[in-house]
Amino acid sequence: MTDPLDAFIDSLQEKIFDEARHTFGKSGFERWRNPRYRGRLDNFDVHARVTGDCGDTMEIFLKIDNDRVSEASYMTDGCGTSNVCGSFAAELAIDKTIDELADITGESILANLGHLADDEQHCAFLAAGTVQEAVRIHMTKPVVSCQ
Ligand code: FES
Repeated sequence: MTDPLDAFIDSLQEKIFDEARHTFGKSGFERWRNPRYRGRLDNFDVHARVTGDCGDTMEIFLKIDNDRVSEASYMTDGCGTSNVCGSFAAELAIDKTIDELADITGESILANLGHLADDEQHCAFLAAGTVQEAVRIHMTKPVVSCQ
C-alpha cells in the first residue's frame, strides 16, 4: 500500500515538473533539472555581476586562454529561470573568442532554450547583459607589461 504522504509528495513533484515543462520547454526543463556550469570558477580571469530590474543578481565567471574562453560558469540568487538562462549563457560563452562573445544576446539564449514564457524572458537578457559586462571588464583591464 502506498503511503499517503509519499503519494502526495509524488503528485506535488509531478505538478511542479509539469509547470516547469510548460515554462521552459523540453531543453529548458532538462537544464532546469540539471543547471550545468553553476558555481564560481576557481581560477577565473573575469568576473561580472549585474543586478536586473527584478532585483535578481547574475554573476558570470570566465577563464580566458589566448583570447578564447576556456571555462565559464554562472551564479545567481534569482529564480529557476535565471538559473536556466545563466547556464545557457555560460555554455554559449565556452570556446568563444572575446569578440565572439558579442554574439551572446538575450535572443540567442532564448533560441538555445527553445521556449520561455513571455514574462520570464527578461531573465535571458539579464544573463546576456552579464556576459557583455564581463567583456567590458575584460576589455578595460589594464595591460601588464613585463619590461
Ligand atoms: Fe529576475 Fe528572472 S526574475 S532574473
